Amino acid sequence: MSNRMWGGRFATGPDAIMAEINASIDFDKTLYRQDIAGSKAHVAMLAKQGIIAAEDAARIDEGLDAVRAEIDSGGFTFSRELEDIHMNVEKRLADLIGPAAGRLHTARSRNDQVATDFRLWVRDTIDDLDSALADLQVALLDKAEAHAATVMPGFTHLQTAQPVTFGHHLMAYVEMIGRDRGRFQDARARLNECPLGAAALAGTSFPIDRFATAAALGFDRPTANSLDSVSDRDFALETLSAASIAAMHLSRLAEEIVIWCSAPFGFIRLSDRFTTGSSIMPQKRNPDAAELARAKTGRIIGALNTLLIVMKGLPLAYAKDMQEDKEPTFDALSSLSLVIAASAGMVRDLEPDAKAMKKAAGGGYSTATDLADWLVRVIGMPFREAHHVTGRIVAAAAEAGLPLDRVPLATMQAVDDRITEAVFDVLTVDRSVKSRTSHGGTAPANVRREIRAWRRRLAKE
Ligand code: ARG
Repeated sequence: MSNRMWGGRFATGPDAIMAEINASIDFDKTLYRQDIAGSKAHVAMLAKQGIIAAEDAARIDEGLDAVRAEIDSGGFTFSRELEDIHMNVEKRLADLIGPAAGRLHTARSRNDQVATDFRLWVRDTIDDLDSALADLQVALLDKAEAHAATVMPGFTHLQTAQPVTFGHHLMAYVEMIGRDRGRFQDARARLNECPLGAAALAGTSFPIDRFATAAALGFDRPTANSLDSVSDRDFALETLSAASIAAMHLSRLAEEIVIWCSAPFGFIRLSDRFTTGSSIMPQKRNPDAAELARAKTGRIIGALNTLLIVMKGLPLAYAKDMQEDKEPTFDALSSLSLVIAASAGMVRDLEPDAKAMKKAAGGGYSTATDLADWLVRVIGMPFREAHHVTGRIVAAAAEAGLPLDRVPLATMQAVDDRITEAVFDVLTVDRSVKSRTSHGGTAPANVRREIRAWRRRLAKE
């Protein structure tokens, strides 16, 4: 039997394999709420414009509510023969209200319908991701506040560089997530135009009101060009690229958590709630959530690549290739949502070992820059010379197997006789972080100020 929705010129039905390759219902049923909301806005506009009778519109509207209730309750039987969510909903509507259902598809096509549904879904998802990211920022702020003065080694090249505070380190992620949220908002602002009414590709001869449907669905305006309306997936691509960057940030945090809770580092401890054991090694406490957060980033970046590659060779306007936009986008954004929630959980859970961090902060001659700065400030050496003198003192300290603040004054004076006892004031890690008061520096007072500023910003949202 040929298809009831489009089978007028077909003598036979499709090959069995077509149901497999062509049907999208297994995944696009995710869009049912958006699909029904779009249809309700469309049918109200059709009636208002006098394109269909008010009684038909009322029956369609009620019928759509009934279909949504069936899907909500899990009582709906989806059919692959009906290909996708749009035709599953419309067919059920026809079962419920009879021939009036056939008027719903006046002046639209599945091409503008799916573009509208998908935009609505991406917009809803951006809003959910934004509040999850805000919650992660709060988790980071709380932990940063508790550890605004907890000293740890800062690294470059993963070599001990200069002491920083754990609070300062966590606040770096608050900044990153702030930019991530900004990127999602930028994508949302550009996304918020309504393709409904572009019809298949050329617009329609019916006197529709695209501004009314756009407004009813919370869009700022209708899209301007009908061809662009049905062939554009930039909104998904921009959202996936914002998601990829956010996931990349959370993957770096996850990697740091993995490193920090390894035995050789021992900087933090995750509780039993965020670790798993080994089936053979009884001592193990594995940071699986962090590892999975790191790994899921691959899926998210992969989805961005998938959609870019699907889109890159398509002539205008719609092509069925574009049906492949949904699975990677759904998968990537739900993976990101999982990663954000797991990251917030880990941040709240982790407890730093302040002693271990401080000990590590003092290793690796981390206050060498403080010594060089002292030579500049107190003795008036040019920085390049101070760098060289400090290098020689570090070499002497390494030779003697001593940390910098335990090198005898005489050894330092042998390198440069202008050095005095006062130099020892700047060689401890606490003095070092306290002195970093420049804008954006790691001094605990700065960190606390930044935390307060962020809390004010979040409270205003
Ligand atoms: N399931 C389709 C998709 O996701 C809906 C649009 C179908 N349009 C068409 N002309 N066959 O893209």
